[in-house]
Amino acid sequence: MLSMIDLFAGCGGMTSGFVAAGGYAPVMAVEWDLHAAATYAANFGEGHMRWSDIASIPDEEIPEADVIVGGPPCQGFSNLGSRDVDDPRNSLWREYLRFVRRAEPAVFVIENVDRFLSSTEFALLQAETEDYELSAGVLLAADFGVPQRRRRAIVIGSRVGRIPLPSPTHPRERWHTVGDVLRGLPEKPLTTALPASVVEFFGRELPGAFASADLHIGRTPTALSLERYRHVPPGGGRFDLPDELLPRCWREKKTGTTDVMGRMRWDAPSLTIRTEFYKPEKGRYLHPQWEPGLSGHRVDRPITHLEAARLQSFPDSFEWCGSKVEVARQIGNAVPPSLARAIAEHLKPYLTGESPADRSCDLCRRPRIVGPPR
Ligand SMILES: C[S@@+](CC[C@H](N)C(=O)[O-])C[C@H]1O[C@@H](n2cnc3c(N)ncnc32)[C@H](O)[C@@H]1O
Repeated sequence: MLSMIDLFAGCGGMTSGFVAAGGYAPVMAVEWDLHAAATYAANFGEGHMRWSDIASIPDEEIPEADVIVGGPPCQGFSNLGSRDVDDPRNSLWREYLRFVRRAEPAVFVIENVDRFLSSTEFALLQAETEDYELSAGVLLAADFGVPQRRRRAIVIGSRVGRIPLPSPTHPRERWHTVGDVLRGLPEKPLTTALPASVVEFFGRELPGAFASADLHIGRTPTALSLERYRHVPPGGGRFDLPDELLPRCWREKKTGTTDVMGRMRWDAPSLTIRTEFYKPEKGRYLHPQWEPGLSGHRVDRPITHLEAARLQSFPDSFEWCGSKVEVARQIGNAVPPSLARAIAEHLKPYLTGESPADRSCDLCRRPRIVGPPR
């Protein structure tokens, strides 16, 4: 088994993909958000999860590992021109590098927002990882079996020879769609609340652990919201609303923010699922079902947490801890497990010398149905 450390682990989207790839065993994960750490613990075990600020973990407690994964969050990238390596905002990068120096992995993987590659933080990383050969670029999650157009900067650092970024496993003609993962789920969620269960992790009681099916929770939109949703066709958004239904800010802002109040399409991947996917005013989060005309059959609601988790490619066997808002944040912040799995499978031959595995994807094995359900 290849030992791995997941830094800034969140709920464990990255670890989920590596574990699904087989051959990787997590030996340490670090996350300071209690509910995200608990979700990680519910799925991968509490013993190796360090629920703490990464800065408070002493060097002596960092184990050796074959692989380190993780993406230090960036508090607004500093300008590349300044190249100020002492910028205090770099401190989380210094922590990541401290782990790399101590654990001496053969390979490390960093994921981040795409503008990371032109940031001071990336320059710092390049300057301070001279023992590693780096490959960097932006990957589109849809190219790796995720039904979502999510772009992430990926950096692979290697001490076993340069490792290129993985090539798409699902080129455009094989992209999975919203329909592939939402079809068949009840259009009307039966509840608006998570079950009242409580679980104990790290000596604290917190909401959970919830099965993915528990996450199919609805909301109670106002009459005005419902009226807005009714006007938006698949692929459309705020520009489809009549003037009288527009809030003042949108009426006055004639350009930009094109995705807000948007509706998904059955036959395409979704756009990026962010942490507030349950608010249609924040992006293209309306359920794709919509037929024109007054008697048209429409599902006038945003996607549920379960639907968002599926669009992020989390398996339905995944368990969740925290309130509705906290679980949504974990889902929106995660690296899609299918993207992480593709990276993990790509790395394995370089780490073990074995030939690449014949990759098959669960969604590809399902029969393909085209068009919206009737
Ligand atoms: C983008 S999320 C990581 C998502 C994760 N890679 C996944 O796939 O699910 C970044 C995480 O870093 C955590 N974090 C931020 N600062 C931290 C710190 N100083 N120590 C530990 N965790 C931290 C946040 O709570 C957040 O969950």
